[in-house]
Amino acid sequence: MVSFYEVKIAPSVLASDFTRLGEQVSEAQAGGANLIHIDVMDGRFVPNITMGPLVVKAIRRVTDLPLDVHLMIVEPERYIQTFADAGADIISVHIEASPHLHRTLQMIREAKCKVGVALNPHTPASALSEVITMIDLINVMTVNPGFGGQSFIMDTKSKIAELRAMIGDVQANVDIEVDGGINTDTVTHAVQAGANVLVAGTSVFGYKDGISAGISALRQTLANEID
Ligand code: DX5
Ligand code: ZN
Repeated sequence: MVSFYEVKIAPSVLASDFTRLGEQVSEAQAGGANLIHIDVMDGRFVPNITMGPLVVKAIRRVTDLPLDVHLMIVEPERYIQTFADAGADIISVHIEASPHLHRTLQMIREAKCKVGVALNPHTPASALSEVITMIDLINVMTVNPGFGGQSFIMDTKSKIAELRAMIGDVQANVDIEVDGGINTDTVTHAVQAGANVLVAGTSVFGYKDGISAGISALRQTLANEID
């Protein structure tokens, strides 16, 4: 299991106040965020439409944290270079949207970004067995992608553990990110299963006492519940 102080928190700007996006990202950085998670949705791979490269470029100007760009779009290979040029540091594509995943992962690497693959809740860990050594980050969707504010699917815990074991078997250095429904009630489950990067939208940007307090609440929960 990952020690709690190694865990990275990636606030998802999907839950931010878009009228004050720059200030909110700065506040997340000041509050101890490790990455900024940006959800790109196209209304085709998922029902919702959110933001594109222009927003990534704008966020790039207000933070020096790594930008973790989660592409929930069909044909993601068409946009890898665009998001890299906009300032993405990590680009994750969905395996379910990538019939030529191997080539797409090579494209991300050639664009000088960290290579991420996202798995929908129904996609097994074994789907990554042939590409695991090409990957820097696996995004395990712990909700069905498309919307913030959904409940963590507990059944994904066994997949997180399986992925952690697969990574150990090949002695690769791969982050396991959990995405969806992470809050003070669920964070320990995710970390105990083997996650080390926590995407948090509602529980950070929607936290009752503010963004920094939301990040601290997650960290404090881990400090209390994991040793
Ligand atoms: C869902 C997105 C998530 C979302 C998480 O499709 O990929 O990143 O922002 O939001 P919360 O933390 O509110 O579940
Ligand atoms: Zn996401």
